Amino acid sequence: MNFNNYVERKGSDSRKWSLEGMLEMASYVDENSIPMWVADMDFKAPDFVEKALLERVSHGVFGYNTVGDDYYNSVIFWLKNKNNWDIEKSWIVPTSGVVPALCYAIQAFTEPGDGVIVQNPVYPPFKGSVELNNRKVVNNSLKLIQDRYEIDFKDLEEKLKDSKNKMLILCNPHNPVGRVWSENELKNIIELCLKYKKIVVSDEIHSDLILFNNKFTSMGILNSKIHDYLVVCTSISKTFNLAGLKASNIIIPNNNLREKFINEMFKVAAKPVPNIFGAIGVKSCYSKEGEDWLNNLLEYLEENYLFLKKYLEERIPKVKCLPIEGTYLAWIDFRELNLDEKELKNKLEKEAKIVIDGGEIFGNEGKEFIRLNFACHKSILEEALKRLERALKN
Ligand SMILES: Cc1ncc(COP(=O)(O)O)c(C=O)c1O
Repeated sequence: MNFNNYVERKGSDSRKWSLEGMLEMASYVDENSIPMWVADMDFKAPDFVEKALLERVSHGVFGYNTVGDDYYNSVIFWLKNKNNWDIEKSWIVPTSGVVPALCYAIQAFTEPGDGVIVQNPVYPPFKGSVELNNRKVVNNSLKLIQDRYEIDFKDLEEKLKDSKNKMLILCNPHNPVGRVWSENELKNIIELCLKYKKIVVSDEIHSDLILFNNKFTSMGILNSKIHDYLVVCTSISKTFNLAGLKASNIIIPNNNLREKFINEMFKVAAKPVPNIFGAIGVKSCYSKEGEDWLNNLLEYLEENYLFLKKYLEERIPKVKCLPIEGTYLAWIDFRELNLDEKELKNKLEKEAKIVIDGGEIFGNEGKEFIRLNFACHKSILEEALKRLERALKN
C-alpha cells in the first residue's frame, strides 16, 4: 500500500471534505479550505477490503444478514494478537458504532440524574452522550504537567467515591491529548473502580494507532476482577479508515452487564448484527494482511507527525505541538500567541483556510489549543502548515 498516492475526496460525500461537513466545525469555509478536522484519514481502505466488498456487491442480494464463527474468530484473533487479550465469542457485541455503544452503556448501567465521569479535554460525544441521556457530566480534568497530560487520581477517587456517580468513560488512547495510558495508570483506575464498585467504559477505538514504540495496554488484560464492571469499545473504523462501514465490536465479559446492554440495543434496533459490508470489513481487516497494512500506515503517520513537529519548532516556535503516543490527532498549543477564540478561529479559517477542531469543543481545558488531524497526504500537511505560517506572520 502506498500512502503517498493522492486520493481526491472532494465530491465523494465525505463529511470531512464537503463544505456542509466542514461547516459543522467551522464558521467560514470555501472551495480552498483544507479539512484537518474529524478523525477520518485521507487514505484508501486496504485493497483486500475493497476486493472483498466488491465480491459481495457482485452477489447482488442484500437481504437480512447474519454473522458466523469466522466473524467472531477474526475479532478474537485481533484482540489476542494485538492486545494479548483472550476473549470469548459470547463477550462480543457488534454495534453500529462506538458512540451508540456509549449511549447503550449509559442507559443500561445508570439512571437519569446519575453522574458519569469523563476526563476533559476529551472527545466531545462523551459529554454529549451523557447529557442527551439526562445524566450528569462529572469532569475529572486531566492535569497538564509541562507538556504531558496526567490523570488526577486524588480527584478521580473523590468522584468515584460519590455514590451519585455510577460510571467512568475512559478514552485510551486519549483523544485529543494523545496519551496512551500506562499499565500503572490503568491499574490505579481499576483499583479505584473495584473499590467503589463503579462501571468503567474503556473506549479503545484508537488502540491500534500506537506511535513511536509506545505500548498500548487494554483495560481487559490487567485484572480479571474488573471484568464484572467493564465495557471495552473497539472498532475497525479509525484503524482502517472505515468509519462509513459502521462496524464496531463491544466486549463485555460479564453476562449480566452484557444482557442489560443488549436489552438497551433491542429497544432501538433489531438483533445486534453488523451490516453486511461492516461484517466484511471486520473479517478482512482483522487478519495478518490487516496487520501488515497497519504497520505501513503507522510508519507514514509517524513521518507526518515528525514533519509537523519540526515545521512548527523551526518556523512557528510559539505554536507547540505536544508529544504524541497514539492516534493521528496532534494537540497543538497556541497559548503563547494570546489570541482569543474568535481571533484564532479567524486566522485559521479565513486567513490560513484550514479547518481544524478548536480545542474548546473538548472542554474549557482545551481553550487556545487546536486538534489537527495529520492522517493526510504529506503535500496537504505541508500546504496547510505553510498557510498557517503565513496567516500567523500577518
Ligand atoms: C474516542 C472516540 N470514540 C468514538 C469515536 C467515534 O466512533 P463511532 O464513529 O464508531 O461512533 C471517535 C471518533 O473520532 C473517537 O475518537
